[in-house]
Amino acid sequence: MSSEKCRVDKVFSTTHAPCSSSSVKDHYNSENLTRNIKTALIKAGKSLSNLELKDLAPIDQLHTGGIMTSMELIKKANLSCEAKVLDAGCGIGGSSRLLAGQFKFKVTGIDIADKFIEAANFLTKCTRLEDKLVFRQGSVLDLPFSDNTFDAVLCQHILMNIEDKSTAFKEFYRVLKNDGKLILHEITRGKNDSLLFPVPWAGKASISFLESWDTISTLLEKQGFETRFHFNGTEHACSWWEKVKAVSKKASHTPRPIGPGLVFGNNAKYFGKNMHANFKNNSICLVEAILKKNRAGIHKSYQPSRVLTAI
Ligand SMILES: C[S@@+](CC[C@H](N)C(=O)[O-])C[C@H]1O[C@@H](n2cnc3c(N)ncnc32)[C@H](O)[C@@H]1O
Repeated sequence: MSSEKCRVDKVFSTTHAPCSSSSVKDHYNSENLTRNIKTALIKAGKSLSNLELKDLAPIDQLHTGGIMTSMELIKKANLSCEAKVLDAGCGIGGSSRLLAGQFKFKVTGIDIADKFIEAANFLTKCTRLEDKLVFRQGSVLDLPFSDNTFDAVLCQHILMNIEDKSTAFKEFYRVLKNDGKLILHEITRGKNDSLLFPVPWAGKASISFLESWDTISTLLEKQGFETRFHFNGTEHACSWWEKVKAVSKKASHTPRPIGPGLVFGNNAKYFGKNMHANFKNNSICLVEAILKKNRAGIHKSYQPSRVLTAI
């Protein structure tokens, strides 16, 4: 590994250069993404007109725990079958397809990276789900949807790239219907203030905006969300990344044609090792949470709410 790839940055320093959303976009946008995915799928012997969700799981679930974690969390939210769901920061659409294909929800995915949206549309056609969901390019800081549109917003491994979390939460609150649910699956800041890069959301500290769950939940509750379910998944996440590390080690001898390298390029080789170390060193934590939009609106006199287990 080159010294650049195993560097430790003071990730929580406030001295990094100001970041525009275009540098987040640049981190994810790779030229020829759709073409490269298409070529790799053909090379792996897949039929492009007849793909199953599981065929794409090695590349389209850009979060800790993969498709199984998404399934469990979505089930926990207990949404009605016709629910309208926004997949905020949908990546190349893995969870959007799961929500539409498996759960039959009416899904809209939005992502800031146009190359991701292009790939999301392509893969959705390959899985024959194009009539069931739509993708839009745009930012969660300025959502192109009317107030009270969605029954749920899924926010999965995106807050790490969002510096202005209050505005994102304001937007989620605005587009949710009363009693709508915000489903979070996020990486949060741990106690140790150094981080090994690259990680999936950033090649360097300037586009990584981790916050502790305490800070995030305070912002959410100030906005008018009520926490209905919370789970600290750090231990599970650490074990999951340990497995990814072992798989990546094997893959360095026998490269996998369909793997995260297709989306993240060369950086993907270091994710298993770095993410496992970051969890183990308590630099990062993993949180699953379900919050409800409070009918009463923004809390006038904010009081931290109790965590309830019933959703
Ligand atoms: C680590 S990926 C997770 C993708 C997807 N949620 C998943 O779990 O497979 C983070 C995603 O957030 C998107 N993103 C970052 N900032 C965003 C913003 N301001 N608005 C919309 N999407 C954003 C990125 O382009 C990227 O696709």
